[in-house]
Amino acid sequence: MAYKPEFVWMDGKTIEFEKANVSILTHALHYGTGIFEGIRSYQTDDGVAIFRLDDHVKRFFQSANIYRMDLGYTPDQIREAIISMIVKNKNTDSYIRPLAFYANSRLGLHPNEPRISVAIITTKLDLYLGKSEDGIRVKISPWRKIDSTAIPSMAKGTGQYLSSYLSSHDAKMDGYNEAVLLDKSGFVAEGPGENIFSVKDGRIYTPSLESPILAGITRDSVIRMFEHENPVIEKRVGLSELLTSDEAFFAGTAAEITPISEISGYKLSSAKKGSIAETVKDRYFKVVRGKDSKYRHWLTFVE
Ligand SMILES: Cc1ncc(COP(=O)(O)O)c(C=O)c1O
Repeated sequence: MAYKPEFVWMDGKTIEFEKANVSILTHALHYGTGIFEGIRSYQTDDGVAIFRLDDHVKRFFQSANIYRMDLGYTPDQIREAIISMIVKNKNTDSYIRPLAFYANSRLGLHPNEPRISVAIITTKLDLYLGKSEDGIRVKISPWRKIDSTAIPSMAKGTGQYLSSYLSSHDAKMDGYNEAVLLDKSGFVAEGPGENIFSVKDGRIYTPSLESPILAGITRDSVIRMFEHENPVIEKRVGLSELLTSDEAFFAGTAAEITPISEISGYKLSSAKKGSIAETVKDRYFKVVRGKDSKYRHWLTFVE
């Protein structure tokens, strides 16, 4: 049976999971009017720590701001509520989902007087993309990434994830682990819920933030972790560049660092011993588990 947290934080109160329900008329259910975050906590030798909590809370408020949603809480209140839920649910390795949505029970696109619900759910999430010792197989999606002039990719709006679902589902139906979306001009954008990196001749590349992608916190972590020894090159990445890469990997809170061994039939050596993708993965897990003192400041210990 899927894991259910004992408690959920909803609208300022800690309530039992079974009582955290919404009406069938909820605006967000009909029109996708919500914003959310995805955060992980990890067991370390010094207790449970949340990875880059302040950056996630900041992005949560940035998403709310883009959609002009007044959450009714301060970032500090949300931060404290997240920590309190990890403690209350006795979570160790967990996935944390802050969610805010228009809760108005009324049909009609514009909620005249928006009523916003805010919830924090903590859950378990093991390997999001499955076991990846040999790397995962991904498919170039026939569905293009929505342009930022239509839906801002820098916000995590719930409705925009229909596009992610469509591409991911298509890839899975065809026997792949995940999809890669191109932008409207055919340049590489990102995965449905992950940023993508490629490696060619020892150099690391990732689509720049002019592409319609989320400014991922894991993406940023990788860029910062390698800024001195092998600086990541942020640029527009063409499809042929990606397909002829030596290696590629996904980076995201849920996906963590996942080496990619094949893209639509093109084989890569990402999961081979000694590859750069494996080095990034090993380094990332050391950082999130508190085993790299240089990045200790990215961890918020819950007790
Ligand atoms: C579309 C998309 N791209 C990239 C990412 C990776 O972002 P982060 O590393 O901040 O989790 C996510 C996950 O939040 C995402 O949903």
